[in-house]
Amino acid sequence: MPLSPKSLKNSPSSNLQTHSQSRLSQVSSHLAPMASTSFNADAVPQAPEDALFGLMAAFRRDEDPKKVDLGIGAYRDNNAKPWVLPVVKRADEILRKDPNLNHEYLPIAGLPDFISASQKLILGADSPALKEKRITSLQTISGTGAVHLGALFLSKFYNPTTERKVYFSDPTWPNHFQIFSNVGLSSQTYPYFSKQTKGLDFEGMIGSLQNAAEGSIVVLHACAHNPTGVDPTQEQWKEIAKVIREKKHFPFFDTAYQGFASGDLAKDGWAIRYFIEQGFETCIAQSYAKNFGLYGERAGCFHFITSPSSDAESTVSRVASQLAILQRSEISNPPAYGARIASLVLNDKELFAEWEANLRTMSGRIIDMRKALRSKLEEMDTPGKWNHITEQIGMFSFTGLTEEQVLKLREDSHVYMTKNGRISMAGLNTNNIEYFAKAVDSAVRGTQ
Ligand SMILES: Cc1ncc(COP(=O)(O)O)c(C=O)c1O
Repeated sequence: MPLSPKSLKNSPSSNLQTHSQSRLSQVSSHLAPMASTSFNADAVPQAPEDALFGLMAAFRRDEDPKKVDLGIGAYRDNNAKPWVLPVVKRADEILRKDPNLNHEYLPIAGLPDFISASQKLILGADSPALKEKRITSLQTISGTGAVHLGALFLSKFYNPTTERKVYFSDPTWPNHFQIFSNVGLSSQTYPYFSKQTKGLDFEGMIGSLQNAAEGSIVVLHACAHNPTGVDPTQEQWKEIAKVIREKKHFPFFDTAYQGFASGDLAKDGWAIRYFIEQGFETCIAQSYAKNFGLYGERAGCFHFITSPSSDAESTVSRVASQLAILQRSEISNPPAYGARIASLVLNDKELFAEWEANLRTMSGRIIDMRKALRSKLEEMDTPGKWNHITEQIGMFSFTGLTEEQVLKLREDSHVYMTKNGRISMAGLNTNNIEYFAKAVDSAVRGTQ
């Protein structure tokens, strides 16, 4: 019986035929010349390694037992070890024992108790912005995620038809440049660090903000400026606020060290609270990496606060709705664990008090190291002035050491720090401070 075309198609011999045909086309497609990638070096040039992560890798490779890591932007105890805050350990135990804990998604905006506690922490519980419901906040992927969410929001909604510029301090946390340029906002810097005084170039900063185009976005470090450790005084903050108001600039606060800088949460939040009191519309990127030691857990918060007005609540509601869409498309919803830890502590009086004590332990040890380093350098009469070591605040100190001296310190003494002369004070302890001070002394004398 003749086979119909249909049955032919399904016969074993025809299956064999189609199989060998497709095999053949597979082989020939391997042999045919084709572009091996759509991402050649013109399209995707090799990017330089992240300077800080490169430094960490170099430190790990160094086998000298005397090596000192002053690059790391994380707290270390007096034995140069990471420190899990005792209050975080307690909160962790409570969480583990909670029979109702599960791994469900958080809401898009994050954990509600964490968010409301974060608002109170940064603004103060009696802030007018809270009472007047002029704030909306979302939990973010730590401070970086908060800066990013704010940058993205501004790029889409802040005077989008005009040529906007973002102003960063010179120098600033290098990631600021990348985060804002990734959302299409171009940036410029305002003078900040004075090489002469190793303090704030206040006139330079004010002059630059005065000359910036009206309505520019100005990124401000709320406290413990990274990388310099130089903060404006309260009087200087008032002047900065005045210029920002006159020029209708938009202030954007980055706060990654509240409580970690001075040990006093209100003091470290002073600048932000002052701006809010003055009625500014602003954004805040808040990180819990340093002050809770929750680096890898990525707990943070983004806040938008509008100025007092009769339609403030409606502004906040519209902004919140758009932020929710941005958050949904970027991360869907934030990670739960770190926020749960922080939330437990922030919402419990006793745990909160213990946290404040832990903050004083960290900031106190750093302040002690600043004093010890300064006095050792002054005792040895190391050329130069060293008063800035104790005048700067927070995790970092801009030592004023030159790139040549930094490299010499690495080669001769196995001391690792960034090329700009920034040291993480947390890397110093009673076991290595003497060694480090002597190494600095000989690097300074050896390069004169
Ligand atoms: C100024 C500043 N902003 C933001 C961050 C964000 O850190 P994280 O994303 O770890 O919270 C840091 C961390 O070093 C910082 O120094």
